[in-house]
Amino acid sequence: MDHFLYKNGVLHAEDVSVSEIAAQVGTPFYVYSAATLTRHFKLFDEALEGMDHLVCFAMKSNSNLAVLKLMGELGAGIDVVSIGEYLKAKAAGLPGDRIVFSGVGKTRWEMRQALEGGIRQFNVESEPELEALNEVATALGVKAPIALRVNPDVDAKTHAKIATGKSENKFGIPIATCRDVYARAAAMEGIDVVGIDVHIGSQLTQLEPFELAFTKVAELTEALRADGHNIRRLDLGGGLGIPYERSNEAPPLPVEYGDMIRRTVGHLGCEIEIEPGRLISGNAGILVSSVIYLKHGEGRDFLIVDAAMNDLVRPSMYDAYHDIVPVEEPVAGAEQAPVDVVGPICETGDTFAKGRNMPALGEGDLVAFRSAGAYGAVMASEYNSRPLVPEVLVKDDQFAVIRARPSFDEMINRDTIPVWL
Ligand code: LLP
Repeated sequence: MDHFLYKNGVLHAEDVSVSEIAAQVGTPFYVYSAATLTRHFKLFDEALEGMDHLVCFAMKSNSNLAVLKLMGELGAGIDVVSIGEYLKAKAAGLPGDRIVFSGVGKTRWEMRQALEGGIRQFNVESEPELEALNEVATALGVKAPIALRVNPDVDAKTHAKIATGKSENKFGIPIATCRDVYARAAAMEGIDVVGIDVHIGSQLTQLEPFELAFTKVAELTEALRADGHNIRRLDLGGGLGIPYERSNEAPPLPVEYGDMIRRTVGHLGCEIEIEPGRLISGNAGILVSSVIYLKHGEGRDFLIVDAAMNDLVRPSMYDAYHDIVPVEEPVAGAEQAPVDVVGPICETGDTFAKGRNMPALGEGDLVAFRSAGAYGAVMASEYNSRPLVPEVLVKDDQFAVIRARPSFDEMINRDTIPVWL
């Protein structure tokens, strides 16, 4: 459930009319609902009730400072994958001991910054990374808390580009050989082994792959404890999917996911961390755009809108489905006709939807791309010299621009022409 509903014939974000925001901010823009973000965080937090736990929001899904501040105030931890994300989390007020550092290619410089600034744990993905971290921590005279990210060789049954838990993927250390790596880690002066980490992929729509992976993690916990390691924390990653196509998708609920966690690893007495991103932010955001033209092509109609693949890349990158709805509520029983919804960018791939049934729309009409709060604004670019679109946060009947649209001058002046040219 989210808080984007029609009221008095107009799509609202909570109690704010989306067309009102459009009039003030101009299109395209992202708008997020604080109530939806809060609700989704709490669903996870409550799903893990009774277990010592920390829900670490994966900020790669949405890294606006205001969203991070909201998460921090709710008591969330944050999962970061670069020093840029780490510094943003800190800037939003998150204490270091609630920040988990994931990612397959952390540099020594990033490790040092995080150790100096405070960190809850590094999720280490390879032996070379472990050695580098040991050296950096030893030079600083500290011990780096770590979990090794294990690769359980489980098929997440999701899009190949976002599946991470098979042995052929670049992620993690093979679960079968990781006991040796744990032994090496335990002997290192700059390393404190605190737990195990696993993340098998994103947009999972079934619980079975998680269950398979977590069962392997439970067995590994017992084996490592028998080896003498004090395994006290399990980071189970993120990945629970959301219903993009609401009419025919119903992924498992956080409460079912929580019960499965209790069932698979609950008996171990470990502190549980999870790293959800999409389920918290995805349906908490929409991308609002205006129709530029309705173009009649040969055998098909194109609805050309002012948002494009540079603003929301998921449809072109993953063939992802996003619901597209008019901001003005269509009258009941209004006729619908198939259109290709496309952006103005000079690529055929700049297509949001093909043959999508939509009510009659024309120049100036507003449309909203739903489920765009995760991996939307964060993946945007300025391709075709289109400035990044603004972000707006709504709470009850108030809204604020939480990232302004850059001016064309700002965009142009970021480049410099060498004196010798
Ligand atoms: N933890 C780790 C280590 C991750 O790599 C990810 C996502 C997450 C947590 C959060 O997963 P989530 O709960 O959001 O599924 N750009 C793609 C998604 C890439 C996901 C990358 N890793 C998309 O638009 O579908």
